Parts: sequence; C-alpha cells; structure tokens
Amino acid sequence: MARRLIYAANWKMNHGPTAARSFAQRFLELTRPVEGRELWFFPPIISVAGVAEVFRSRPDISVGAQNAHWELKGAFTGEISVTMAMETGARTMLIGHSERRHLFGETDDQVARKTVTTLRAGLIPLVCVGETLAEREGGRTEQVVLRQMTAVLDRVANEDWERIVLAYEPVWAIGTGKNATPDDAAQVHELIRFEVSRRGVNVRVPILYGGSVNAGNVLSLLERPELDGVLVGGASLDPDGWAELVGF
Ligand code: PGA
Repeated sequence: MARRLIYAANWKMNHGPTAARSFAQRFLELTRPVEGRELWFFPPIISVAGVAEVFRSRPDISVGAQNAHWELKGAFTGEISVTMAMETGARTMLIGHSERRHLFGETDDQVARKTVTTLRAGLIPLVCVGETLAEREGGRTEQVVLRQMTAVLDRVANEDWERIVLAYEPVWAIGTGKNATPDDAAQVHELIRFEVSRRGVNVRVPILYGGSVNAGNVLSLLERPELDGVLVGGASLDPDGWAELVGF
C-alpha cells in the first residue's frame, strides 16, 4: 500500500469566491488522483462552497474551513458554527492555527473544545500546535507543545483519535522563509506521538509539518517517515506552484 500523505493548503485570508473557483478549475486540469495522496484545501469560508463544487468529482480532494466556534449556535456575532461550515461543503476543520492563537487570542482550551465540536459533527479536525521563537530559544519547545497537546488529550475521548490529524507548525517558521530542518520537525513529531500513546491512544495519528514549506524543501522533509504530510500557506496560493509542490 502506498504511504498515506496529506498535502494541506491553508489559503488564510486569500482567494475570494471568484479567485478560489478559478484556482480550483486550473488545479483540476493540472492534477489527477494518486494512490495514497490526499489533497486538502482550506479556503476562506466564503469560498468553500465554490471550491467544493469544482472538486466534487475528485475523491482525493477534501475542502475544509479555517475556523469555527465551539458552540453550534447562539449570540456570537461574526462567528460561524461547525455545522454551517459543513452545510457549505466543508469536510475538515483547521483548528488552533497559530494565527488564531496568537493574533486572535485563542486559548488551549478553546482549541480543545473546537476539536470536540468538530468531531461530534462528523468532520475531521486538523489541530495545529507549535512553539514561538522565544519559546524555542528559551528551551521550552517540548513544554509548550505538550501543554497544547494536553488540553486536547484531556477533552477528546481515546476512540475519537482515529479521526484526528495533527500539524506541528513552529510559529517562527510560518511565513518567514525559515523552515525547521527535517530533524527538528521529526523530533517534535516523535514527541507528540509519544505523548499521545502515553495517554492510551492506540492509533497512529497522522502529523503534518507546516512552516515555510515550498517546492524546494518538501521532498527532504517528507523523506522523514515521522512526517505524514505538509500544511502549506504561501506556497499553496498559486495553482501551478501548488500542483508542482504536491508532485505534478
Ligand atoms: P507558510 O504558512 O507555508 O506560509 O509558512 C503555513 C501555515 O501557516 O499553515
């Protein structure tokens, strides 16, 4: 069986409905399904339905939302719920991205609650963890990643870990052009895996690496068996470049 690899594109606040649709149409021309290779897209929520529609004939492609509230409805101006995201075509949910944590003040517990709500609704959560530069330089990488993981482990039942995907994204590597070396990444992936199994979870949880991944460094990162794919921002915004990065 081919190794399962997930290539996830996080478009952040880029590509409104028109641009997102043209991206998807072009990407469809450039690529085809490949065994073991999953392509995940996280457009802005307003563009999810259009992208999902263009990709509807591609079982290897999943479209997801970048964020949703942990409650299913209520007085939360400006928020959307997991079920609303699902109704527009989202099948996956990005949770706890460092921009949500650091720019919008999302806490470890909110990340954990969003993960539970996403699982209950039947979507696949892609939960991100990672340390800042100050934390890494202060020798606190392990402590921070374990704290973020503990919040999720405390709330998610062991049997639900079969449907979770994680991403390790060192904050200092996101959008900076500085990526972690394959060794740095593999080390933290191992730490996360060790912690998850120490807490009694018996499945091998896929862990993606993210932070300045591009067509030039993706192969050396994915050579490491500890990595199950990549989560990519900047280098996923152009359909030709993204198709090249994922191997076409
Ligand atoms: P980047 O972003 O690839 O632009 O560094 C990664 C991410 O934020 O998920």
